[in-house]
Amino acid sequence: MMKAMIKTVKSTALSLSVAVVAAGPVMLSMPTDVFAAGGGAALESPRIDTSNKRSLQRGAKAYVNYCMGCHTADYQRYSRLAKDLGLDEQDVVDNLVFTTDKAGEQTKVGSLMFSNMSEDYGRQAFGVVPPNLALTARSRGEDWIYTYLKSFYRDESRGGIGVNNTVYPGAAMPHVLWEQQGWQEPVYEGEGDKKHFVGFKQVTEGTLSTQEYDALITDITAFMSYMADPIKHTRHRIGMFVMLFLLVLTAISYFLKKEYWKDVV
Ligand code: HEC
Repeated sequence: MMKAMIKTVKSTALSLSVAVVAAGPVMLSMPTDVFAAGGGAALESPRIDTSNKRSLQRGAKAYVNYCMGCHTADYQRYSRLAKDLGLDEQDVVDNLVFTTDKAGEQTKVGSLMFSNMSEDYGRQAFGVVPPNLALTARSRGEDWIYTYLKSFYRDESRGGIGVNNTVYPGAAMPHVLWEQQGWQEPVYEGEGDKKHFVGFKQVTEGTLSTQEYDALITDITAFMSYMADPIKHTRHRIGMFVMLFLLVLTAISYFLKKEYWKDVV
């Protein structure tokens, strides 16, 4: 009776750890961008490397310069950014903090990355409040953001900002990087129902070449990807330890079971 109970307990423990080890890789390989939303146009996949600190630093710089005038990223703290990107806090204060707090003082390094645009102003100027971008890399996906940033074109029919976007048609955002990219126009093929977008033609040159512009928006996308999941690399590292631990545990459980049962059967 006692033996039978021990047997059940042991074999349950063993099959549990085997199940966990077997299910681990399945869970790890689950796609993270199942909710990524597309906008009709084909999306490009940039080579994002969030372990490349240089790329993240360039992305952070571009982000505070070109995006934070309108967009908030208020889950992210400057001090955390300094630590994760390998920057000195004073460097961050000197080079990346351009906003002020309620008292009109320069924003402190421990605060969140708020923009200084009020919601009312945003609504008046653009019709919508520019969204918080801290988690956009998760909701839209990296490919969407990257392709969105290279798909603005002039569209006189839109009045107002006079700009449209093939990835997000009707977007209320101006082409903030037009000086860098220059202007392009969409090329369509086919007539009527068959009319479809095939690509862009450069109309005026920007200050950056196409490769340089792509590199710039890759860095911005990488930075947004980091913001959406700042502990990704730590999590992966811990995950590896957990898997290793479970493997070792499985081996120990197996030999323990053999040891217990060697005289019985
Ligand atoms: C002049 C203000 C302004 C600036 C500067 C600006 N944006 Fe926007 N952005 C907007 C507005 C307004 C929207 C909302 C568009 C809509 O929903 O129609 C938007 C939307 C977006 C979206 C889509 C978010 C979503 O999930 O719908 C992304 C991504 C984005 N911006 C990225 C950027 C990046 C990256 C930069 C810097 C390179 C930037 N924006 C700079 C005004 C701005």
